[in-house]
Amino acid sequence: MIDGKKVLFSGMQATGNLTLGNYIGALKNWLELQDEYETFYSVVDLHSITVRQDPAELRSRARKLLTLYIAAGLDPEKNCIYYQSHVSGHAELGWILDCFTYMGELNRMTQFKDKSAKHADNINAGLYTYPVLMAADILLYQTDVVPVGKDQLQHLEITRDIAQRFNAIYGDVFTIPEPYIGKTGAKIMSLQDPEKKMSKSDENLNASIYLMDDKDTIIRKFKRAVTDSEARIAYNEEQKGIHNLIDIYCACTKKTPDEVVKEFEGKGYGDFKLAVGESVADLLNPLQERFYQMEKEKSYIDSIIKNNAEKANYYAQKTLRKVQKKVGFPEKIR
Ligand code: TRP
Repeated sequence: MIDGKKVLFSGMQATGNLTLGNYIGALKNWLELQDEYETFYSVVDLHSITVRQDPAELRSRARKLLTLYIAAGLDPEKNCIYYQSHVSGHAELGWILDCFTYMGELNRMTQFKDKSAKHADNINAGLYTYPVLMAADILLYQTDVVPVGKDQLQHLEITRDIAQRFNAIYGDVFTIPEPYIGKTGAKIMSLQDPEKKMSKSDENLNASIYLMDDKDTIIRKFKRAVTDSEARIAYNEEQKGIHNLIDIYCACTKKTPDEVVKEFEGKGYGDFKLAVGESVADLLNPLQERFYQMEKEKSYIDSIIKNNAEKANYYAQKTLRKVQKKVGFPEKIR
């Protein structure tokens, strides 16, 4: 708890560009949590180097991501949006927790198995202990809730195990975090394969709408979206492509699927796709304008980066000092 509020932590990698799926499925919901929770949103650059990165590109993408969060409406006075590498406590707690994590546990992590298959030439120790650093991220802020996708649930589970193990030895040091199951925004699927989730790492650029796509690009991608030969706008599990387009349209316009089906009764897919494209462009336009504006306000963004890193450091140090004392490190002489 911080100032009577529960703590919410989430980390995000600055790899790939955020998609409409990230926005509707996650970011848009976060905007509603700003008052209820004390939130920390970390751009997790320590995690990113578990895979080889181009340094200039990593730096620029990290800054873009941070700016985009603010442009999307996360108030940087209320939400602590910061770079993980600016708070040394993550790495320090990570090391300590390494010593409370078993190799047997890490061997079971499916993301490690997937990523080592994908990067067979660089199976480094950081990739292996990735979940422990993630545990450190979360536990460092005495986090109550963590909004995560399904693919990260196993990492949250190991975080809880590590925390419980530590607490069993040393007393109540860490808050045990819970996954945050929020109002689920519709899950947005790929425009090229509606069986697959829309992903920022999809190789087919037509499959995803990126938050910074301009209007023409958005409309073109929707025109090419995969549908079916039913030639009927209906909301059912068979017409997966149309189902996805209806979900997107509803998320943008706050209409219900029933209303949408009525609105487009007797109309063709072409008309509908155009309307969906326009609704998405209208949704993203204000965010994009704010983004381009903020990108120019370099010193404003810099001051946010600085202030939020200080705030994060303050809470991180509190936990870290407690942990260091518990495990038997000598007190610093001041
Ligand atoms: N591993 C997460 C992902 O790839 C990112 C992440 C790092 C994270 N630390 C975290 C998510 C802590 C939630 C909490 O999506």
